[in-house]
Amino acid sequence: MSENRNFWKNSRRVYRLLIVICTLALVSGILIFYINRDAQGEPEADGTEYTKFEDEEPNRIENGIHVRTGFIDAPGLQETVNNCTNCHSAKLVIQNRMNAERWHATIRWMQETQNLWPLGDNEDIIVDYLVTNYPPQNKGRREGLENLDWYELKP
Ligand code: HEC
Repeated sequence: MSENRNFWKNSRRVYRLLIVICTLALVSGILIFYINRDAQGEPEADGTEYTKFEDEEPNRIENGIHVRTGFIDAPGLQETVNNCTNCHSAKLVIQNRMNAERWHATIRWMQETQNLWPLGDNEDIIVDYLVTNYPPQNKGRREGLENLDWYELKP
């Protein structure tokens, strides 16, 4: 009989403990919800306002432009977005117009000095995409001089 009573006593203890744990979990859940909600789109204490990042459609294309990055929508876009917008803005990529050789050299430079990872097969896809959609522009700057006939300056 006393064993039976002990059993009920213990069950009640366990039951009470469960209620406490559930209440704590519920309260912290609600707290976390409100903290997160406040962290978005609310001005900081120093008055800085952050725009909420529209992540619902990270790969939305409008008028042939990948909205999030500004890249032209063409074959190789996704590989370029995935590998070339992690460390710096896509603008840095777009404004640099180079031929394939210089793109490969730039990628090699980033791999050697900036921790860019190996791109594997994607390297050719990305360079093709860049050369095709952002071809080097020669206008506005003259070509480098070649085969010059230098002459000695006489005193
Ligand atoms: C791991 C980080 C990282 C990734 C990923 C990355 N870059 Fe860079 N890249 C850098 C850093 C750092 C610089 C130097 C930025 C600066 O000078 O402000 C740079 C500079 C550049 C420049 C300017 C080079 C110059 O001569 O001024 C170009 C163009 C460029 N990156 C293109 C790319 C392309 C294309 C890809 C995708 C294949 C890419 N980046 C991916 C880190 C990265």
